[in-house]
Formats: sequence, C-alpha cells, structure tokens
Amino acid sequence: MFERPIWWDGDDVVVIDQTRLPHQATTVRWRTLEDAATGIADMQVRGAPLIGVAAAHGMALALAADPDAVAASADRLVATRPTAVNLRWALDRVRAEVADLPVDARGAAARRLAEQMADDDVRACRSIGEAGLDLIEAHHQRTGRPVQVMTHCNAGWLACVEWGTATAPVYLAHQAGIPVHVWVSETRPRNQGASLTAWELGHRGVPHTVVVDNAAGHLLRTGAVDLVVVGADRVAANGDVANKVGTYLKALAARDCGIGFHGAAPTSTYDAACPDGDAIPIEERDPDEVLTFGGTRVAPEGSPARNWGFDVTPARLVDSYLTDRGALTADELPAAMQATPEPA
Ligand code: MRU
Repeated sequence: MFERPIWWDGDDVVVIDQTRLPHQATTVRWRTLEDAATGIADMQVRGAPLIGVAAAHGMALALAADPDAVAASADRLVATRPTAVNLRWALDRVRAEVADLPVDARGAAARRLAEQMADDDVRACRSIGEAGLDLIEAHHQRTGRPVQVMTHCNAGWLACVEWGTATAPVYLAHQAGIPVHVWVSETRPRNQGASLTAWELGHRGVPHTVVVDNAAGHLLRTGAVDLVVVGADRVAANGDVANKVGTYLKALAARDCGIGFHGAAPTSTYDAACPDGDAIPIEERDPDEVLTFGGTRVAPEGSPARNWGFDVTPARLVDSYLTDRGALTADELPAAMQATPEPA
C-alpha cells in the first residue's frame, strides 16, 4: 500500500487520487502546473497540509518548464482553494527560495524545497501526535476502557504526508497499545470522513465507526465520546479555527456536554496576519455537490443549494491546540507559533 499521498517519479509528481477512494486506490501523474492546479481544485489531493506540500510540488513542475513564471505560477495555484492557509504559506516559501537564483537553478531549488516540506510535515505531524497522546492516555487511565475519540472530515495522513494532524495522537496511542476507538462523521457533501478517514483507520487496524454528521450531538450528549479532535485549515491569530463545515456544531455540542474539544494543526496552518475567524475566506464550492449524492440528484430539479466548505469555531470553544510546538492555549498560540523553531 502507499506510504505517502505524494511523491516524485522521475520528473513527474505522483499523487493518490483521493476522489477514487475508498473503492479504488489509484494514482494520478502531474506533469505540468495545470495538472497540479486542477488536481488541487478538484480535490485529487486535499487537506490543508497536503494542499501546501502539493502546491510546492506544482511550483517545481512549473519552474522546470518555465523558470521565469514564478509569480504567474504562484497566482494560478493560490487561486485553487482559498481557506487553507498552508497553500499561501508554501507558495511564499518557494517564491522566497528562488527569488535570487539564476533562472536555470529555480526548478531544482523548488523541487528540493517541496521535498523538504514533505519531510518537515511528517516531523510536524508526529510532534502533534505527541502533544495529543497525553490526552488519550489520561482518559484511558481514568476510565480503564477504550478511549472514544470523535473527529470530523479527514485530518489523517491522506490530508498531510504521514500521521495526519487529528489522527496523529490516535495512531500513536494505537501503536502504544492504548485501546482507542474513533467516531468518524461522514462529512457531507464530499464524505471525506466516510471515504478517507474510515479507509485509512481501517488500513491501520484502528477501531472506528462511521456515523452521519447529525449523530454527533446524540453521541456527545449520551456519553459516547471522551474527546473531540479535529484538524484546521487556518488558525487565526486569536485562535479561531476554520475547519470543514460542521466543525462548529461539534464544538458547540462538546462544550454543552462538558467534553474537551481540541484543534490539531502544524505551524504552517497558523495565520498571524489574520486577526480572527471573520477574516478567514470561506471556500464555497459547486452546489451540485450538495444537490447530488453518489451522482444521483437528491433535491428537486430547480431547488438551489449553497455549499460552504468550511466554518469557523471561535477560540472560546477550543480547549487546546495540539501543535508541533506542544499543546497550547489560545493565549499561548501567537508567541509559540512565531518563535524560531529548534533546528531539526
Ligand atoms: O475540503 P478538504 O477535504 O480539503 O477539507 C479538509 C479539512 O477540513 C481538514 O480537517 C483540514 O484540512 C485539516 S487536514 C490535516
């Protein structure tokens, strides 16, 4: 099976085509900037950290073909998905890396940086896992039974490069022999929970159960959940979290039921320039994703739909941020996220 969702094969970038999972585990080859841009927009790859890493790979493809097209290539890629700030973060890094280089060195330099970003993401996600493992362990020690984790969408290794963000503590706990079970909400309309999270948990032998999104309140209220861990597409400077639409409702229900709600994200998802959640652009996708299910129309012809991909959970509902710099409170985020990282 696959070890990562993106890699190089010669001069091509190969990605797992996540639009085909769970039925087909197939790959797609990106040879051009346009392949990468449409692959990100059409969600062959998705998930904030992977979108960033994939965009850097797209820049490497673009600059290998036309090393003068730095700004135009970055503009094309940044327009693909507006909410995940990792996209802009990655593109800014590639632009800075190649800015002072002679044209003939730009493609190779962008590729080196893209590969390094992928490796860095693995380390960051492992650190996120370590930051969240204590939470899971503490629940197990207190109750002596399998720890019940609720998540949303797919913030697993398919959304990153390895480990995932929200799933990293789960995978580490599973490896350490701590019994853990994950409540996976299907995540309409694209079903990343049912199609992707369930697929990757199943492949790693982690017990899990798929539920409809609207079952979350019932599960939280009836004591079926010990903690909620979700990923993030952008964390604003004040700690507000943009994540897959439906996250806010889970956070509200978790608070009402006195259950811990935790946002897991690497430094690349923190946007110091974004003061709060109201300043985060929320992607709106094709209404057909809502109007159809598995290719079949579920709403009457003529009924319109709106399709917001994300919502914002205010910082007051987030009990902790599981980051590559430890488990933090909203007050601790700005200093910790902007501190110079320790050398690897
Ligand atoms: O639309 P998607 O599938 O890209 O949305 C993904 C999410 O909302 C994830 O929770 C988020 O990107 C974090 S991924 C580690």
